Amino acid sequence: MNKAVISGSGVFTPENIITNAELVTAFNAYADKWNAEHAGAIDAGDVGPMGHSSEEFIVAASGIHQRFVMDKVGILDPDVMHPLLRQRGDDEPGIMAEMAVNACQKAMIQAGKSAEDVDAVIVAASNMERAYPAIAIEVQTLLGIQGFGFDMNVACSSATFGIQAAADMVRAGTARAILVVNPEICSGHLEWRDRDCHFIFGDVATATLVERGDLARDGSFEILSTRCATEFSNNIRNNNGFLRRSRPDGVQDRRDMQFMQNGRKVFKEVLPMVSKHILGHLDDEGIQTDQLNRLWLHQANKAMNDFIGKKVLGRVPETGEQPNILQDYANTSSAGSIIAFSKFSDDLKAGDHGVICSFGAGYSVGSVIVRRL
Ligand code: COA
Repeated sequence: MNKAVISGSGVFTPENIITNAELVTAFNAYADKWNAEHAGAIDAGDVGPMGHSSEEFIVAASGIHQRFVMDKVGILDPDVMHPLLRQRGDDEPGIMAEMAVNACQKAMIQAGKSAEDVDAVIVAASNMERAYPAIAIEVQTLLGIQGFGFDMNVACSSATFGIQAAADMVRAGTARAILVVNPEICSGHLEWRDRDCHFIFGDVATATLVERGDLARDGSFEILSTRCATEFSNNIRNNNGFLRRSRPDGVQDRRDMQFMQNGRKVFKEVLPMVSKHILGHLDDEGIQTDQLNRLWLHQANKAMNDFIGKKVLGRVPETGEQPNILQDYANTSSAGSIIAFSKFSDDLKAGDHGVICSFGAGYSVGSVIVRRL
């Protein structure tokens, strides 16, 4: 069996930032408009008025201060409340492929590799912009890579599940190097008209190059072990899909065609699942928590990460041990833990250990134990 390493990583960050202040102003204007339009029903007691959102609530509940998005004009327009993206022709690169290519190029530069060194592309993300052909094949072609590509979706855990698939193929000799790329346009499936969740997500793309150890640069991260687990839950769900038009009111503007979650339940059920998963994985690999130098966690909620960090390390993590990026990026689904890894791994020394862990809808949880070479 070959050794598999992560030899490069990269982040594509969109140009547009939406601050909590901008987000709340737009939402509250939308809520006022909605209340005026439904004044009769509200007065009759048929529906309740839509409450305002608040910056204080968002920061206290999530730790999020801003998010990057591919388009902010539509999201912040009270008459639109979703991103407005240019319709692209079939003969030009799709928006997901374009974001993915940017992140892949950064990962390849860090790894010191070019297209001829890479044998496959896995696009692992929460949503694909079309049914087929696979976005991964488009990315592969745009980068000039021979070999193969495929898409996979395990929602927020897509990146770690993708790394496991790539590492297994590299170990088995199926490929020398595989790009695992996570283009996440979360603004497309977020319900910006719902104050319970309108602050949660942002857009980004991340990439990792999973490569055969003997071919990789010094200072790569050896993948010691990966572990994936899933357990069915409806507490994070989106009913949009290819059968939409076949159902009686499927094409209506229905709330369940965007992201829905029972946040409290997710909190209560996912936290123990994740802590147990990481601790069990480390234990089975014979790694003590005091040998752990870094935790790159999924970036959904600050309180969640504080809890997991404390549970795994058995103490409050010291500054830098468990870096958060969610204050700047919000929840970027599968890309969150990889942004943290990409931005906060350079300082680790040879022999240092870390865990990349993502978790979310499914439920799903994936962990990747790495050691700096
Ligand atoms: N502004 C002001 N008030 C708001 C608000 C907003 N934007 N959104 C909700 N509220 C109100 C609610 O209506 C509720 O009011 P009520 O008590 O009168 O009913 C109150 O604030 C508390 O809402 P709640 O949804 O219970 O807040 P919370 O503390 O559970 O935080 C989440 C919400 C979503 C941030 C939190 O549950 C969470 O992070 N869950 C896990 C998220 C996660 O990991 N998801 C994975 C997705 S991949």
